Amino acid sequence: MTDHIKILKTEISKYLGSKNIYFHNKGRASLYAILKAMGVGLGDEVIIPAYTCVVVPNPIIYLGAKPVYIEIDKDNLCMDLSYLEQKINDKTKVIICQNTYGLSANVDKIVEIAKKYNLYSIEDCTHGFGGQYEGKPNGTYCDAAFYSMQWNKPFSSGIGGFMIINNDNLIESINKIEKEKLKANLSTKLNLKILFFAKKCFLNQTTYWTLLKLYRWLSKNNIVTGSSSGQEISDIKIPKKFFMDYSQTQAKEGVKNIKNLSEFLKLRKENAVIYTDFLKNHKKTYVKEDLFANHSFLKYPIFVKNRKRFFELARKHKIELGDWFNSPIHPIQNNFEKWGMFPEKYPIANFASKHVVNIPCDTKNIEKILSFLEKYLNEII
Ligand SMILES: Cc1ncc(COP(=O)(O)O)c(C=O)c1O
Repeated sequence: MTDHIKILKTEISKYLGSKNIYFHNKGRASLYAILKAMGVGLGDEVIIPAYTCVVVPNPIIYLGAKPVYIEIDKDNLCMDLSYLEQKINDKTKVIICQNTYGLSANVDKIVEIAKKYNLYSIEDCTHGFGGQYEGKPNGTYCDAAFYSMQWNKPFSSGIGGFMIINNDNLIESINKIEKEKLKANLSTKLNLKILFFAKKCFLNQTTYWTLLKLYRWLSKNNIVTGSSSGQEISDIKIPKKFFMDYSQTQAKEGVKNIKNLSEFLKLRKENAVIYTDFLKNHKKTYVKEDLFANHSFLKYPIFVKNRKRFFELARKHKIELGDWFNSPIHPIQNNFEKWGMFPEKYPIANFASKHVVNIPCDTKNIEKILSFLEKYLNEII
């Protein structure tokens, strides 16, 4: 039988140069494994950006530790370094930085600070596989990094995640923790096969919004294997099937998609240049050129006056907009205190969650998006 996981590992290592690659059912499970291997537990603090997905603070909380949030920089939507050192104390164990939309901003400096205080560092590369920062692939600066292969990510295997371990001292504990992984059961595999089929046959510009809504509702109600189960967004208890293994069904899809990655990376970068020129010419907020070098541009962020109105317009014109992050810990909209998050303490992250939407960079029909943006220029900040 073909070992798709082994083939995928070889393909991934061509980008990262690492052989220490481990797979999981989702990226968040990889993060959980890394934190556990680093010995994160009761009373520890883990620093994360205040503009992320709730599945990042979740594993920290599952292990009994506390997420400590850091305000973001409005230019790169990643952690603002000027707040970092003041949040470090005796309880701090790890710093997690994130390459939001594919940009590994300041990761070299973050690692420097982590080393200065004898802390571990992790890079959340769920948006940034295939990109580079200062000449090195995203994920190779920190002690470890994790990646996602969920639908919307740089390359997809439906859902899926993996991690690379750069600090050899962690390998022994990682190998022990890997033994705890639950096997993907038959219903999960079948579920994914149905989703691959539905995506291939029914997903297009006309059905995008309806299917997205349906998919999110089905996964929230635990009817299909989706991005986040109901429990992960309403509660801080570890779900029963959280730490799960990756399957050959997923890897087979992943191998198919990673083969097209270099072509997509090229297209994403070309489109990002076009978006930047357009926004700049119209005196709107754009991604600064000095942030461009090897940014993988999973998506291109734009600032809009009224998010809700802009989404309605996009739906009407069949434009595939992305809504992450719709809150400092997406997609949470209330009871933030459960996650130790107080949005008003992070004005830039809070503002971004109310005004940033993301436009696709892998489109072969950029004219359609540009004419939409042109028509509603007065909605863009
Ligand atoms: C910033 C960020 N980190 C982590 C994750 C988790 O990845 P996965 O869905 O593979 O668990 C996501 C989202 O999907 C994300 O957007």
